[in-house]
Amino acid sequence: MSAQLIDGNALSQHMRADFATRTQSLITQGVHPGLAVILVGDNPASQVYVRNKVKACEQVGIHSVLEKHPETLSQAELLERVDQLNNDPRIHGILVQLPLPAHIDAHRVIEAISPAKDVDGFHVASAGALMTGLPAYWPCTPHGCMKMLESIGYSLKGKHAVVMGRSNIVGKPMALMLLQHNATVTVCHSATVNLKHHTLQADVIIAAVGKRNVLTADMVKPGAVVIDVGMNRDDAGKLCGDVDFEAVRQVASYITPVPGGVGPMTITMLLANTLDSAQQTLSVKP
Ligand code: GUN
Repeated sequence: MSAQLIDGNALSQHMRADFATRTQSLITQGVHPGLAVILVGDNPASQVYVRNKVKACEQVGIHSVLEKHPETLSQAELLERVDQLNNDPRIHGILVQLPLPAHIDAHRVIEAISPAKDVDGFHVASAGALMTGLPAYWPCTPHGCMKMLESIGYSLKGKHAVVMGRSNIVGKPMALMLLQHNATVTVCHSATVNLKHHTLQADVIIAAVGKRNVLTADMVKPGAVVIDVGMNRDDAGKLCGDVDFEAVRQVASYITPVPGGVGPMTITMLLANTLDSAQQTLSVKP
């Protein structure tokens, strides 16, 4: 068996065509959706990510502001900038690219973002809302994974989902989203004993560890759906995920590629959150 690909590029293009229409509609209603992206320092991977986010905004007509600050920017200066953006009516979403330099407390900065503009979904208010089932902006990467499962008409009800990784950005919110869709969820992490025992029981595996080949074919139940969140480089410097793609695709029923899988969907969900935030300002206008 060879798994069917879940094409994140194709799904993104389809969704973004709709977003372009939504953006125009908001503009005619007097609101031009705007996203501010803040990058501190010169982390090469972060530079690529923020460029792609800004390009995606341009593609659908969302106004974007990319602010690049030197590594030496102080925490107080960054907090001041976030405060200004919180009060800027042209900006509906604020994204501070992580990781931040070591002298800045990322938690402090994230908590300074207004939850109404927290399009990354990282604020404790957003995390708490996700946990309790209240409406909020969902973190973009796990939300993108959910959209990919939805795109193949996959019902999670009663299925066993195994999440590999427990980060605040992916693993933990992913587990909550799967739970909300009635899956039975196991979260595996670096201290998990006998990882293979767990993954072999999974109907759905989300690999979000950040290490090449952490999921190999012998760890996958035939017919399982495999979502690869990893973004790594192989020995030849080529982009690859966390999954041994060529071997696992022989066992799985569906699999996401890297590149062209979860990556573009993360950005697509950022656009979705920014549009939702802009839309929200219409309903709170007097
Ligand atoms: N660093 C890695 N992924 C992300 C993301 O989704 N948002 C932000 N702000 N930083 C990141």
